[in-house]
Amino acid sequence: MQDKSSRKEATPASEWARDPAPIRVGARTVRFLAPGSPPPPPSVAIVGPLEDIPVEGPVGVQPEFAREAGGRALVRVRCPKGTHFYGCGEAAGGLRRNSRVAVLWNTDSFGYDLQTPSLYQSHPWVLALRDDGTAFGVLFDTTRRCEILLEDHVQAATEGAAPAVYVIEADSPGGVMAELALLIGTTPLPPRWALGFHQCRYSYGAEHELLGIAEDFRARWIPCDTLWLDIDYADGARTFTIDEHRFPDAEKMIAQLRLRGFRTAWILDPGVKIDAEYPAYSEGLEHGHFVMRPDGTPFEGDVWPGRCAFPDFLNAGARRWWGDLTARFVRIGADGVWNDMNEPSVFDGPGRSIPLDCTHRADPDLGGPDTHARYHNAYGMQMARATFEGLLRERPGRRPFVLSRSNYLGGHRYACCWTGDSASTWEHLSWTIPMMLNLGLSAQPFAGCDIGGFAENADAELFARWMGIGALLPFARAHSDKSTNRHEPWSFGPACEHACRLALERRYRLLPYYYTLFREAEQSGVPPMRPLFFADPADPALRDADDSFLLGRDVLVRASAAPDNKCRSAMPSGLWRRFEPAAAIDANLPQLFLRPGAILPLGPIMQHTDERPLDPITLIVNLDSTGRAEGSLFEDAGEGFAYREGEYLLSRYAAERDNNHVRVWVESAEGRLPRPLRVAEIVVLLDGERVARATGIGGDMITVLVGGPNQMPIGLD
Ligand code: GLC
Repeated sequence: MQDKSSRKEATPASEWARDPAPIRVGARTVRFLAPGSPPPPPSVAIVGPLEDIPVEGPVGVQPEFAREAGGRALVRVRCPKGTHFYGCGEAAGGLRRNSRVAVLWNTDSFGYDLQTPSLYQSHPWVLALRDDGTAFGVLFDTTRRCEILLEDHVQAATEGAAPAVYVIEADSPGGVMAELALLIGTTPLPPRWALGFHQCRYSYGAEHELLGIAEDFRARWIPCDTLWLDIDYADGARTFTIDEHRFPDAEKMIAQLRLRGFRTAWILDPGVKIDAEYPAYSEGLEHGHFVMRPDGTPFEGDVWPGRCAFPDFLNAGARRWWGDLTARFVRIGADGVWNDMNEPSVFDGPGRSIPLDCTHRADPDLGGPDTHARYHNAYGMQMARATFEGLLRERPGRRPFVLSRSNYLGGHRYACCWTGDSASTWEHLSWTIPMMLNLGLSAQPFAGCDIGGFAENADAELFARWMGIGALLPFARAHSDKSTNRHEPWSFGPACEHACRLALERRYRLLPYYYTLFREAEQSGVPPMRPLFFADPADPALRDADDSFLLGRDVLVRASAAPDNKCRSAMPSGLWRRFEPAAAIDANLPQLFLRPGAILPLGPIMQHTDERPLDPITLIVNLDSTGRAEGSLFEDAGEGFAYREGEYLLSRYAAERDNNHVRVWVESAEGRLPRPLRVAEIVVLLDGERVARATGIGGDMITVLVGGPNQMPIGLD
């Protein structure tokens, strides 16, 4: 995304015109077309089913259409003065996106900065917040290159036919996100282990190295669920192969790691090395699964393995083939799959990708055969889809976990994402929170960054602060480039290691709540990580908070991504009280606050998510001004789909103050799973950063004495 000043505004050659017959496709969603143009088929973002009701009477937000002299279709949406813009997917910079231009064109952008026009994913979607806290969203439904200018109005310039434009109106930004989910679907509940901590490096390139990393985590008591294998595990970077000198028995290694509570995730890149002896290449060639040049021969370009051909993921046959190769590969016991370089990145290609005139045999329901210019932005999403579907076919009882670098609006149905090749600098750290928030507001809520930064060397202070923030993001993975110093949590000395341990202990204690938020997101489309203005959309002071965020409705994170370690954001109104789930307070970690009226469920500290059941459960209570609080907790097997058939337990907790006592109880429960008999510890937050505690058996009513000698400071567990 760039500053507006660095781009010229597109000038229309034709008059601006409105759709005379907009169609209502959802309760709060209206579709507009350029006058006189037939409805284009919905893009891969849309899942529908859509209603089809002519709009009667006036509509609120109304796009206008025109054409540029150069031929691009233009769409303009005029907005009331003071409207603030968010969304547009992945970009460096602050949360609020007024006066910025997003060029939606998936690009391999190593070491990106504020002026990089496009990163790895494309979300032609803008969330607009009016002065009064009401909101609307605009979706430009095209996978073609699209340039969105956000000023006092929204203006999109797209190549090809004028896109259908969907406008969603709601009372609040959360309402817009919920309605968007009806158009493009939601993020499926991840397996619980995927919400644990992930450790990666380019590359843990030999079995003994990976096993050594695993031992270090356990010996140092630093929680971790998943270890990642980057390209050097493969034989000459050939996708679906394993270098047997460095990994002589991958299956055995995986089994050994499982015994220590570790999962593994393996990179599978799209570039297929041109090598007649390599089955993925010869099979792909024989069955015509590759992207073609205009002359009908497979396109070839350079990526990590050298000269490569590129699977045509827009085609169902090619997706099936790739999904089956993936399925066969994970039979070694791999848990997760990492799809990288799938913009696609082609080192010697024009714009570092496939030439625009290459062709895809796209399925009829994706739009039918056409050029790369049309499908470029959907390539990574369709690769993630092939992987997701292959994993599901192979293991129908398990939730697929796919990480994809490239994606397109709606691709959250298939994959989690991270923000690519950042650098270990304070500036990159400062972009992390706004990037995650805008991805969430673009319907890509399962997102993370390379904790510590990918390129360049971090130092102890930067790494500790990055871990403090990164451990609270929806997807928490540390990763670094091969040319950097080691970036494991213990690489920067004891003080940094201590901060990392506390940061990750916090994450694991918060997991029951985070998991509940992911279940809610699967149902509602509202992201688990939210900007501060969700607490009060009408409060102007909360609209550009770059260093604070909310987890769900109840937890507020105040961080600093600057060397001075100061948080600059305002606080929402009300008595949000500070709490500390880790064993000690560390100044490197963000401060955590609980909403007045909330009960927050926490789990015990664990070294990995399967280590022990949720026992004891801790309920942190922050009473509101009427002396009440409530909260909820979703529990299930953590894997599989039985929860969709009722195998879960959703508990709603309530608390009430009566003079010097606070009573806490389970007010209602839903689902077929029985309530486990377990210890429940109640922590009532009091003024002056003090707490009162009591312990009982979960399910029973527990009374906490809040006056008197059992008051103690927060953070002493
Ligand atoms: C790309 C990825 C990075 C990975 C590297 C090698 O640069 O963004 O995460 O480590 O390729 O596979």
